Amino acid sequence: MWTWIVTAAPDSGAAALNEIQKGSVPSRFCSWLAPGVAQFTSADRATTQRALRERPPIFVRHVSAVDLQVPCTGPSWDWDAVLAAVSGLDNLDKSLRTSVQVRPLEPIPSGMRQELTRRVSSHLTDRGVPIVVAGPQQVVSIVLAQGTAGLGVLSLDDALSAWPGGECRFKRTEGQVSRAEFKLLEALDLYPILICDGATALDLGAAPGGWTRVLRERGLHVTAVDPAVLDARVAGDPHVRHVQQSAQSFLRSTRERFAVVVNDMKMDARASCALMVQAEDCLEPGGFGVMTLKLPEKHPELTVRDSLDRLRVTYDLVGARQLFHNRSEVTVVLRKREAHDGGERA
Ligand SMILES: C[S@@+](CC[C@H](N)C(=O)[O-])C[C@H]1O[C@@H](n2cnc3c(N)ncnc32)[C@H](O)[C@@H]1O
Repeated sequence: MWTWIVTAAPDSGAAALNEIQKGSVPSRFCSWLAPGVAQFTSADRATTQRALRERPPIFVRHVSAVDLQVPCTGPSWDWDAVLAAVSGLDNLDKSLRTSVQVRPLEPIPSGMRQELTRRVSSHLTDRGVPIVVAGPQQVVSIVLAQGTAGLGVLSLDDALSAWPGGECRFKRTEGQVSRAEFKLLEALDLYPILICDGATALDLGAAPGGWTRVLRERGLHVTAVDPAVLDARVAGDPHVRHVQQSAQSFLRSTRERFAVVVNDMKMDARASCALMVQAEDCLEPGGFGVMTLKLPEKHPELTVRDSLDRLRVTYDLVGARQLFHNRSEVTVVLRKREAHDGGERA
């Protein structure tokens, strides 16, 4: 029996579990370790990993494997037992860049997380494992819950995120104009979107201008469409053109093409998808789309499934995930389909 810990947003725990159980992963739910954090078991490790890869979950933002468990209670721990368990992790590939993630799901003595990370990292370094903080290829996770440390190893792809529990944290920067910026930063961090310096981007629902600012920082020239006003710092940028009208009316009249179309419009998900399908006409061959699907309280999974079906008619789906910075929404990354490449627009 293999044990797994899956993490979703606290409000999306049930949706995440549903996905895992319906996603042809033969699994058994064990318990909630924290809001949105579920433990389940499966009969076979490889089958579970394959199922997660073939049908990537949308509401799960992080997965850890629990290959070994060590009791960890009280103010002082049996470090030798923890390190012996680390040495016993059979799935560890010593040639891969590895990060150590300690994740307490319940209160632990102050400084213990750092101490555990330090001890495990130096134990692995002594055994020739290249330990890194950023850009790992595999993750050694240690989840502290219910008086035990659950240790496991997964490749970065299988863990879904390089951040413990998928909690992707960015520092606020001085010029930041909206919290929404984090959503786009997280999507660009997670998905391989090629952006060339000097290329053009279309930002639908751009105000106050956070996503436009992120795209500008990556060297793109941005057409920002929104009836609302942009933050003065973004509006004053000579490489930002603000079209102060609705996305509908802009898309009806434009004949321009862009390398990237992003859409964070506050709008019913299906209506937003319809506009995104229309916007595909404005994408250059091989161009990317990034959008957020705003989810209703009732049946969010149905809305996501239906929206993705609509988008797949025109686009290849690069990924869809409820990211750490999404609130009641899902981020979708799209690519203009090859068959449409090179075709002249009517
Ligand atoms: C969540 S905000 C976008 C935040 C933006 N991504 C940022 O980073 O600052 C949603 C925006 O969608 C815009 N919006 C809603 N319906 C729209 C439409 N039909 N056409 C264009 N923009 C629209 C709203 O005016 C609002 O500014």
